[in-house]
Amino acid sequence: MRETVILDKKFREMIPGEDISKRIGEMAAEINRDYKGKDVVFLGILNGAFLFAADLFKKIDLKARISFVKLASYQGTRSSGSVKELIGWNEDIKGMEVIVLEDIVDTGHTLELIVGELKIRKVTGVKIATLLFKPDAYKKKIPVDYVGFRIPNDFVVGYGLDYDGYGRNLPSVYTLME
Ligand code: IMP
Ligand code: MG
Repeated sequence: MRETVILDKKFREMIPGEDISKRIGEMAAEINRDYKGKDVVFLGILNGAFLFAADLFKKIDLKARISFVKLASYQGTRSSGSVKELIGWNEDIKGMEVIVLEDIVDTGHTLELIVGELKIRKVTGVKIATLLFKPDAYKKKIPVDYVGFRIPNDFVVGYGLDYDGYGRNLPSVYTLME
């Protein structure tokens, strides 16, 4: 399926599922090397990272745990904009080596929030693994340690990423057509 329609928009295949799976194998091998002999907690960010987290985690041969948190928006009582908060922490991560699993890093706002929360929880180390990275959109200084694919600053869906909630089940990554 080279092209697909989701709701009112047309998308073109950009990264085939086979390429994604091959790249995830390489990322896992790199993480297995870097963290050899260590006890690691993977932290997947829902909803987008669920497929990436599952496929990567299957290829990890470390002493490892995995947990998921979710970003929730709520209306601040004073501010007019929406405030974001991470919910669902159920793992004791104090003193742990944590690897955050993201579907995509765009501006980096989300990442900054997550890393801030991890520091409050006194983790020993934090690294970031993301399937997709938009370097032209990135506004932060936090290093993105493991990147699957660097992509242009265009809207993408598939392999966990959504357009208005749809498209997450596509096995490939698709980009919006003009
Ligand atoms: P950031 O906080 O700007 O880095 O954006 C991170 C979040 O925005 C991701 O976790 C996605 O949920 C969403 N996002 C950013 N770019 C895209 C895209 O191209 N397609 C779908 N979701 C995206
Ligand atoms: Mg996301």
